[in-house]
Amino acid sequence: MPEHVAIIMDGNGRWAKKRFLPRFVGHQKGLNSVKRLVAHCASVGVKALTLFAFSTENWRRPQDEVNKLMGLFLKALQKEVSKLNENNVRLLIIGDRSGFSEELQTHIHLAESLTEKNTGLVLTIAANYGGRWDIVQAVQQWQLAHPDSSVAEMTESDISDFISLSELPEVDLLIRTGGEQRVSNFLIWQMAYAEFYFTDELWPEFNESSFDKAVSSFAHRERRFGKTSEQVAQ
Ligand code: FPP
Repeated sequence: MPEHVAIIMDGNGRWAKKRFLPRFVGHQKGLNSVKRLVAHCASVGVKALTLFAFSTENWRRPQDEVNKLMGLFLKALQKEVSKLNENNVRLLIIGDRSGFSEELQTHIHLAESLTEKNTGLVLTIAANYGGRWDIVQAVQQWQLAHPDSSVAEMTESDISDFISLSELPEVDLLIRTGGEQRVSNFLIWQMAYAEFYFTDELWPEFNESSFDKAVSSFAHRERRFGKTSEQVAQ
């Protein structure tokens, strides 16, 4: 079982379009998939699930869709957090939250504080997140913490200490739905050794058995981390 699974949830818009529905209905259905997958991951023993909900590039979408997505995030936080808390889920939000409304920022803070001590699944929502942004903020945080040092002395492990999710194991498995096969500036630092799994299923169609299929594909991969097959077998 992978410890840390990251998912690029793609295809909400196409799911809706195929049914002659507004794109937003696809996002609502997508939220259903999120809820099912969170429960499933907790029950099969995944330690961390990280979902790409909104990228730094998604602000370029039509204003109406952006507003509706923000409304959906806020509603989900207000409605779902107590249930997550009852299920011992710890919720984290990564990304540049200064881009969000005050109200959304307040609810993000409340949700994180409420679930801070939970010891079950760590559910991370990446919102206004970009992998390059993350690397830059890690360097900046390091410099703030070491004002007398020069970046010339920086090591990889310094970045790993300040990158988002530094307290979690690195991503083992990246799943992307919706048929595209790219990383789209997601957790580029944290996915350095991840296995990738792509499926044509659209995110609202992605269910527990789709997830199990991805995990079973992961279980059959040989992870060598730069070594030879023979070394790994030893
Ligand atoms: C990608 O599909 C999806 C998004 C940009 C938004 C993701 C949001 C959700 C799954 C719902 C809410 C989630 C949380 C965690 C509260 P797309 O719109 O790019 O689909 P398309 O490629 O078919 O147009």
